[in-house]
Amino acid sequence: MITRSLLELRHISYTPPGGITPLFQDLNLEVSNQRLGLIGPNGCGKTSLFQIMVSLLTPDSGELLLEGRTISKARDLRGLRRDVGLLFQSSDDQLFSPTVLEDVAFGPLNLGKSAAEAREIASTTLNNLGLAGFEERLTHRLSGGEKKLVALATILAMRPKLLLLDEPTNNLDPATRERLIQILGSLQQAHIIISHDWDFLDQTTEAVYTLAHGHLHRCDEARLHTHPHVHPYGDQPHDHQGKTPEP
Ligand SMILES: Nc1ncnc2c1ncn2[C@@H]1O[C@H](COP(=O)(O)OP(=O)(O)OP(=O)(O)O)[C@@H](O)[C@H]1O
Ligand SMILES: [Mg+2]
Repeated sequence: MITRSLLELRHISYTPPGGITPLFQDLNLEVSNQRLGLIGPNGCGKTSLFQIMVSLLTPDSGELLLEGRTISKARDLRGLRRDVGLLFQSSDDQLFSPTVLEDVAFGPLNLGKSAAEAREIASTTLNNLGLAGFEERLTHRLSGGEKKLVALATILAMRPKLLLLDEPTNNLDPATRERLIQILGSLQQAHIIISHDWDFLDQTTEAVYTLAHGHLHRCDEARLHTHPHVHPYGDQPHDHQGKTPEP
């Protein structure tokens, strides 16, 4: 049986406008039904790579394929935007409607659902994320963490086949981060997560890639290691499973 990849990047090269050094050089990636992590230093091109994967950025050369078909026409683009959901690094770039319900219902409406169906999907999605009662809240007044979860709801409401999550734990408190781990574990969809949080990636992905010098490298081995570290309340008994000890 031939298993087709869901999304594929072939021979992608890209230099940002005004840049001298390419961000990517002949980069290749094939995603099927996997849960992958992507890690790399600030400015190495992780967000740009996600933008190429949803065709918000056009590479200088190379091909983007959705289920084996090259994305080239407007029709392909509609399919790509339907099947691949991108959670932006900054939630303010994602949320634009006055209320939470309108924002979450926007995607389903755009996919051709009726107003009643879109409301129903939006409410269910908010419920599943522990955001029941948020429907009429004003989007721009939400806290950073609340915005992140609502932004995730706008993506999930479209039921994409692949989720691209750009630093989803930013602004999340330890309990909400834990809830996100549970939520991601319960989802059927493939996902790729950009994060600087190794512990989070360890709990939400099967394999992690590092992006460095324009290429992706798969981290094949988990290496157990210890290192000294400091953080608030570090003199109190604590663990590192995302729980902050009582002060
Ligand atoms: N539109 C643009 N014009 C010029 N340079 C850009 C543009 N977009 C991104 N860049 C540059 O490309 C590089 C990669 O940016 P990108 O946002 O992809 O990095 P990143 O790996 O996501 O970083 P971070 O971990 O800080 O989020 C940066 O040096 C950035 O300044
Ligand atoms: Mg980024």
